[in-house]
Amino acid sequence: MTMQTLIAPSILSADFSRLGEEVRAIDAAGADWIHLDVMDGHFVPNLTFGPPIVKAIRAASQKTFDCHLMIAPADPYIAAFAEAGADIITVHAESGPHLDRSLQAIRSLGKKCGVALNPSTHESTIEHVLDRLDLILVMSVNPGFGGQSFITAMCEKVRRMRGMIGNRNIRLEVDGGVNAATAGRLINAGADVLVAGSAIFGGGERGVYAERITAIRDAARQAMKRSFVTNTRSCSMEK
Ligand code: DX5
Ligand code: ZN
Repeated sequence: MTMQTLIAPSILSADFSRLGEEVRAIDAAGADWIHLDVMDGHFVPNLTFGPPIVKAIRAASQKTFDCHLMIAPADPYIAAFAEAGADIITVHAESGPHLDRSLQAIRSLGKKCGVALNPSTHESTIEHVLDRLDLILVMSVNPGFGGQSFITAMCEKVRRMRGMIGNRNIRLEVDGGVNAATAGRLINAGADVLVAGSAIFGGGERGVYAERITAIRDAARQAMKRSFVTNTRSCSMEK
């Protein structure tokens, strides 16, 4: 199943003193989803924001709020993020001992259900929960900070994950070090949602958000076209 590529700007690199305006600006600039990075200073070595901020910015965009929870445990907070306005709630496979229970909790609240994998986590970790998922998030940096370098080995993980997904209706998202230069090889490997923080918000000039989103989208489209021509989606291309 080939789905249209979506671009999900991460507000982690936005101006936090004007978050509502930033969300409005990135929506107007053509974001498909708004990616919200929640960090607890425990699961990852950084802190960001919780449900009150998600609620506060909810009115700034009708687009999908893609909540990436880098918190452990996640279960006690899932309902609060659902109530705050999250559309997709993604928990890390490493965030607790009962991933299946966490996914059931998200689903029971009527939200889309995602699981994220750290770079060192094997894809087989989620083999037995695949049928519960709307989204798989492959981390292509170690979670916690924006602006890190893309880990090239994650292309192979994306390719394997695409094979595991098969015909299931599951989005395959990649997060970390994504920009117009790395987008093509991720699309070739099988990704269909690209998260980008610093590549879109870096520098803080709102006037450039649209062209930065377009640059990533164009790189993805070119890679898609090439994969149709060659009938291959492999991360060895464009290296
Ligand atoms: C990192 C976050 C990412 C981050 C990506 O832990 O999950 O969403 O914002 O930032 P860039 O695109 O700058 O690597
Ligand atoms: Zn993220």
